[in-house]
Amino acid sequence: MSARTIRVLIVDDVPESRDNVEKLLRFEGDIEVVAKAARGQEGIDLAMRLQPDVILMDINMPDMDGITATTEITSRLPTAGVIMMSVQDEPDLLRRAMLAGAREFLSKPFSLEELITAVRHVSRLAQQVQRPVVTASPNGTAPRPSDVGLAKIISVIGNKGGVGRSVIATNVAMAIRQLTNKQVALIDASLNFGDVGVMMNVAKSKTFSDITVQPHQLDRELLDDVLVTHSSGIRLLLAPATPQESETVSVELLRAAVSVLSKTVDYIVVDTRPGFDDMMLALMDQSDKLLLVLTMEMSAIKDTRQFLEIAELLGYPEEKITLVLNRFNNYSGIPVGDIAENLKREIEFRVPNDPAVVLRSVNEGSPLTSSQPESRFSAEINRLTSTLVQEHLDESEIVSKNGHRSNNLVLRLRTVLGHG
Ligand SMILES: Nc1ncnc2c1ncn2[C@@H]1O[C@H](COP(=O)(O)OP(=O)(O)O)[C@@H](O)[C@H]1O
Ligand SMILES: [Mg+2]
Repeated sequence: MSARTIRVLIVDDVPESRDNVEKLLRFEGDIEVVAKAARGQEGIDLAMRLQPDVILMDINMPDMDGITATTEITSRLPTAGVIMMSVQDEPDLLRRAMLAGAREFLSKPFSLEELITAVRHVSRLAQQVQRPVVTASPNGTAPRPSDVGLAKIISVIGNKGGVGRSVIATNVAMAIRQLTNKQVALIDASLNFGDVGVMMNVAKSKTFSDITVQPHQLDRELLDDVLVTHSSGIRLLLAPATPQESETVSVELLRAAVSVLSKTVDYIVVDTRPGFDDMMLALMDQSDKLLLVLTMEMSAIKDTRQFLEIAELLGYPEEKITLVLNRFNNYSGIPVGDIAENLKREIEFRVPNDPAVVLRSVNEGSPLTSSQPESRFSAEINRLTSTLVQEHLDESEIVSKNGHRSNNLVLRLRTVLGHG
């Protein structure tokens, strides 16, 4: 691979801090410090002139603080990857830094490894954002990458751990299967800590790491060998059993698996892990729909807002993302209206908080949409699922007008849903 050099600007008022960071980065062949600034304004000027990939910004500086400088830089240079550096690790500072457009936060003192990981991560993100912006096609649907088939691909994402991605992914997959009786696949792309197997009560079985061929060699039969069929009929592609094994799963392999499956099933639901690495970005590109899960916690709301900003830079049409507020309750202290206003988006789906029932279903490995279809939890998941299925139906109709997709599917789904 011909890796491009990552060009870094350091902005810090303390000379020793600037020099230290520069020294730390000196031995990394792919990273070059192109300039150093001692003041916020100088940092802005240098950023505009040199257009670095990554800006390491101190938060506390005289004259102009790092947050003000970051706001200015990211509004004029939206692709700049700012990493905020601070001695304090206060949640409020973190929140303000992120809202100003910073993509990472480093607490001083940080290790060489933390620094380098952050620089590489942010530069990758910046490169993705610099891609040409995709525009929606005239009929309002997003263009699809050429390697995906006709399945509707739904990825359940969230920028923060524990918000309920896995619970929602397993329940939505189950609801789609029950509602449509079509072919449904559920992929566990939360590779390090995959929970789908446990939540669907499948004992030891084949996983991603049993795929031994190169991604480009993966075909329907080879994939079939590692899929596990759940008692509901859902086809599961499970995460490897250990984090070591999951290291062997590449971006290309996940991409190939989604691509092959999209030509054989009707719906693909993907459970994911937090963060925006290359794998997540590739998956999000392949997806038709992103279910963005958040809870009523300040931190989850902040992460969601950050994600929506990134999605906009990536050129995703607004309708590609559906917000799903999980663990909805009336005691969080933050009214839903305020959350929606903060995110400048409607929050159409609110999955109720029901700790006892959900916990039990997770422990029994039996999704609620199947074991307790009458629960309030299941009712909301079913409402969400009906919308997803209906959208697929409408899209199928557009495709079928162009002669690519059979009208039978449309008619059948209409019947199942009672719209025809
Ligand atoms: N709607 C809900 N009501 C109550 N508890 C929930 C709900 N959704 C998720 N949980 C709890 O939160 C835990 C974490 O959910 P999980 O789906 O594993 O999160 P993630 O995949 O985003 O890390 C679950 O084990 C479950 O006990
Ligand atoms: Mg999970």
